[in-house]
Amino acid sequence: MISKIESLGTGTGKIVYSTNDCQDILRLSKAEILELFKSSGVVLFRGFGVTPIQMKAFSEKFSYSYLKDPTKTSIDSVDFVNSVDNGMGASPAHTEHGANPLQPDVIWFCCQTPAQEGGETLFWDGVQLWKEMSKHLKQLFVEKKLKFTFEDVPLDMVNQWIDGGETIDDCKQVLDQFEDFSYQINEDSTFSLKYLRSAVVKTKYGNEDAFANFAWTSHARGWEIFEDGSKFTEQVVDELQKLYDKFTQEISWQAGDLAMIDNSRFMHGRREFKDNRRQLFTTIAKILD
Ligand SMILES: [Fe+2]
Repeated sequence: MISKIESLGTGTGKIVYSTNDCQDILRLSKAEILELFKSSGVVLFRGFGVTPIQMKAFSEKFSYSYLKDPTKTSIDSVDFVNSVDNGMGASPAHTEHGANPLQPDVIWFCCQTPAQEGGETLFWDGVQLWKEMSKHLKQLFVEKKLKFTFEDVPLDMVNQWIDGGETIDDCKQVLDQFEDFSYQINEDSTFSLKYLRSAVVKTKYGNEDAFANFAWTSHARGWEIFEDGSKFTEQVVDELQKLYDKFTQEISWQAGDLAMIDNSRFMHGRREFKDNRRQLFTTIAKILD
């Protein structure tokens, strides 16, 4: 039973606190949590002292079809749980696996140790960003799809990325099912992948338009942004930066916190940190309705 809830940030997010009656996160009502998640999109569980193992166990009440992340370090003792502390720099807004046709519905974060200073996880409500965006920007993102290309990707990485299987034929079968997706297999058996997707998506709950995508990270990495090979103009960068700055919300971590974020609606990122004590873990998956 949830008995103590507060707002998280300035939007729809919520904090669920442990109480004397319930300090074990695994005893919370699945139905109540799911309803809260559907309406708020970001739920932070505080005071439950959640470990990465408990995060995985709790997430299994709601999630299936976990994805691996070849760019992160996994904890060997818990399947599909990764450390997100590769590097200490700021991370720009993105949906998790936003360049992957199998984008997960939910991303879970569990904080074992917060950074001494900085390292907050940031989040942005894509529905709010889309509503507040200028007509000019909206038109741009409606007219042009985002493009993601990856060259010389080894088979095992493709397999992890799309849960495709261990052989080229296994992966081909999965890749062939994706819309707006093309690929080529190179002479050395690596893959060249190209994926087009809209920057504006429908939320999983409520079917609302949301500006929730990987474009700001593509920009930060110097990648081409749009299907025609173009990048953001200075004016677009300026407008987007103002929009992101204005609507940034944050999770200031405490040890044992667990967060559950709707990846179809919210983007996340992080502030930089300078000490090496931060230990944050994540798992990503589809969600049971
Ligand atoms: Fe991320």
